[in-house]
Amino acid sequence: MEKFVDLISRRVSRAFEEAGYDASFGKVTVSNRPDLCQFQCNGAMPAAKTYRCAPIQIAQTVAEKLQDDAMFSMVSAVAPGFLNMNVSAQYLCDYVAQMAVTEQYGLQPDPDAKTMVLDYGGPNVAKPLHVGHLRSAIIGESLKRIHRYFGNKVIGDIHMGDWGLQMGLIMEEVRERQPELPYFDESFTGEYPAEAPFTISQLEEIYPTASAKSKEDPAFAERAHNATFKLQNGERGYRALWDHIMRLSVEDLKKNYNNLNVSFDAWLGESDAQPYIPPMIEDMKKKGITTESEGALVINVQEESDTKEVPPCILVKSDGATLYATTDLATIVQRMQDFAPGKMLYLTDKRQALHFEQVFRAARKAQIVPETMDLEHIGFGTMNGKDGKPFKTREGGVMRLERLISEITEYVRQKITENQVVDASDVDTTARLVAMAALKYGDLSNQPTKDYVFDLERFAAFEGNTGPYILYTIVRIKSILGKYQGAVEPQALMAPETKEATDLMLVITRFADFMWQAYRDNAPNTICQYIYELAGAANKFYHETRILAEPDARKQAGYVALMDLTKRILESCIDLLGFEAPEKM
Ligand code: ARG
Repeated sequence: MEKFVDLISRRVSRAFEEAGYDASFGKVTVSNRPDLCQFQCNGAMPAAKTYRCAPIQIAQTVAEKLQDDAMFSMVSAVAPGFLNMNVSAQYLCDYVAQMAVTEQYGLQPDPDAKTMVLDYGGPNVAKPLHVGHLRSAIIGESLKRIHRYFGNKVIGDIHMGDWGLQMGLIMEEVRERQPELPYFDESFTGEYPAEAPFTISQLEEIYPTASAKSKEDPAFAERAHNATFKLQNGERGYRALWDHIMRLSVEDLKKNYNNLNVSFDAWLGESDAQPYIPPMIEDMKKKGITTESEGALVINVQEESDTKEVPPCILVKSDGATLYATTDLATIVQRMQDFAPGKMLYLTDKRQALHFEQVFRAARKAQIVPETMDLEHIGFGTMNGKDGKPFKTREGGVMRLERLISEITEYVRQKITENQVVDASDVDTTARLVAMAALKYGDLSNQPTKDYVFDLERFAAFEGNTGPYILYTIVRIKSILGKYQGAVEPQALMAPETKEATDLMLVITRFADFMWQAYRDNAPNTICQYIYELAGAANKFYHETRILAEPDARKQAGYVALMDLTKRILESCIDLLGFEAPEKM
């Protein structure tokens, strides 16, 4: 379907033409004075300059052309030359009714939709997920859903940190604790045990211990380096141990991301890119784009137009080790080969912006990607505590994701229990759904690049600009629909008779505008803004309208159809944000 405001623009543009002016002056926008009118066109002002006459005169002539059009209930020319317009109730209703029976409420997919890789999550195996990984998961999941809604084929890749020194540290620590294990016996040729010599919670303790030890004990650090080297050279025992770590970690990660309603299509990691590194570097050398710098192999990525220094992208250090950037470049090679995407989108903390700038430039220079390739990094801000510093536990430690989720869920559970609306058997499920809405909406309602303050009481409030408020609106509508005896029919929608019904329908017509903005700008916050407005209009309508007590069955069916459409749109939107509504709350 064509966007509502575009339809009106097209009609007004034609009126400009009919009046003898250029059609381009007829652009219409949603009114910024809703107390005066619903839509406005300011084109008479610039037109007056072109045609050297008074703007009000132009506005008046154009208004006359629109007087008898069924699209409008009011068109007036206002000094100094504005065109103020209201659409007719019937025209508005017809459009909304069309939305109600059209897939995705008439939103057209992007004609330029592509295959794309969305790189988000980025957890490091054997390290517990902490709130730093939360934003990548929440924003990434939402962007994945938004891009799919517009017809893109999105491959969500978790891109685990599963290679390098962190693995060596774990292995060396395990070796110190259990040197008798066959993994460390070079002469061992038998089959390694199927069971890992540690549990996931032991692993989560092993890594920080080893990491701390390596900082104090250079000999230990050296041995960990050695272990890393052995792993990277494919030594059998180390590889077997790595497999154990991966199996346990992936299982644990799946559970955690599942709790967040976040899922990935590709469970790949840094390790999967390693085989692509040697041929990639050979190719880069052949292309003559690498240089030696203090024993390291680098690609210069500074461009003439740069106003700041962009340091070279280091591929191989003087000791022969490859780096984070090398792996990211090789990952691009792998993705081109496996998925042939037209776009790659990365989500990390904004402190990694320079890293991605270097990687993208190097990838283009090395022609790993075609020129048309869209490479984009979205750097997000930090989730802070009320003290304005990165969010911590009350004791000041790193907040684990599991604990954060259980604290929010517990808080919400108490509220729900006090309200006594939810059956005891549903309290758990409901608390989980409401907690997810509080957490995700609290995050997504901010622009991704901005830092924000995590405030449990505010995020979990049932009133105000919060996830639970949106859920509450949906639940309230569900309850009305549940009590309605008849069948809900979109055809029953009626031309609005009140301001509240009109306003609600007008917000509904703006669905596609907001979705496009969210999509184009990678800004789920726009969807939050939209559903907050929609929920507000729905609640006003509900307060001012007798729905279930309405004696006129035709009117009642119309109200119910409007509520139903509102609910469906709200549900589609929260699905794009990555959460869902309970039956009651
Ligand atoms: N594991 C990394 C970290 O914790 C994030 C990975 C992001 N993705 C990427 N392709 N570099 O910082």
